[in-house]
Amino acid sequence: MAMPETAAVRGPAKAPQPEVAMSKPDEKTGFRQFELGQFQLKRDEYFVHVSWPSRRGRLTHRISADAFLRALMRDVAWGFFYGLVNFDAMFGSRNLYGRVEFFAARYNEGYHKAGLSYVEEFDSSFAMATCKAILRDWCSAGFDPFAAPGETSATWVGPKKGDSVAAIERVRVATKRMPGLVGDSPLRDDLPVNRAFADVPQDEPAIEVEPGFEGKLHAFNLFKYLSRSDVTWNPSVTSVCRESLFCPTTEEYILPIIHGNDRVEWFVQLTDEIDWEVQDKETGKPRARVLMKAGDVAAMPADIRHQGYSTKRSMLLVWENARMGLPELYESGQLKPYPVEF
Ligand code: PHB
Ligand code: FE
Repeated sequence: MAMPETAAVRGPAKAPQPEVAMSKPDEKTGFRQFELGQFQLKRDEYFVHVSWPSRRGRLTHRISADAFLRALMRDVAWGFFYGLVNFDAMFGSRNLYGRVEFFAARYNEGYHKAGLSYVEEFDSSFAMATCKAILRDWCSAGFDPFAAPGETSATWVGPKKGDSVAAIERVRVATKRMPGLVGDSPLRDDLPVNRAFADVPQDEPAIEVEPGFEGKLHAFNLFKYLSRSDVTWNPSVTSVCRESLFCPTTEEYILPIIHGNDRVEWFVQLTDEIDWEVQDKETGKPRARVLMKAGDVAAMPADIRHQGYSTKRSMLLVWENARMGLPELYESGQLKPYPVEF
């Protein structure tokens, strides 16, 4: 699965798919209710309420609507990502690559041990259609779930007021090798430099090619490229070497999901700082706090979940291995969850 790329290019608005199970707009709030299998999802002025069946009847869980929409935006844009996308300690998705599980309380030790968790598996394209319809209906005009909170409006609060289709339908740019190569994704020359990166030099490297190697040697200013990112917490493929993907991203505020890895991920902190909370993937028990400063490198193991906090917008390089079958190698113990032994 390739990771996503967001560009400033906006795609055409798409109507919700017919098979999505949804209600008429609520008379008071204007928001629709949705069903995803046995899950029911509704939102009010502040909260999203998720409910699922259990042996004690239906259980409900509440998530602040902005947090829910930021998490859902990542799940949609990343095609359910690698491994677990925990919206919070209770609700989320697990990518089975072609199929996807949605879960409630499954990775919350207390609820799960009490037999109150619930998991349902879907065809990815059906679940994706439902997720997209929810995003479309629940984001009011002006709210951009990819933006840092200080760079978008607070219109996520309150009843439905218009929609935010342009923000949620950003077209993915699939980089084949590197941005700026002939026939590959563009550099971000048409986007403004973000306020947090006003000091980043904008000059491009000089490329001098030996005769016969024209079009084969390439370089670009990655710091300039990242300084012009208009989204946060959105690793985008920026170099592809077989299954090795460099996915740099710019980070401000809180990673909107708690990511449960299904493979090792390497982090290279390119600028500023991110504070990572690392927990056991299965139970959520604390495992580590990692404060990464510019220049620091960390390998995040395959058996953890993690969430990052960045006060000043920072640049992070996420290095992913997109090889098929990796999750099975870790789950069966054929690979250790960490890449190095000291
Ligand atoms: C991660 O889970 O590794 C991750 C996800 C999104 C980011 C950074 C890291 O922006
Ligand atoms: Fe991760």
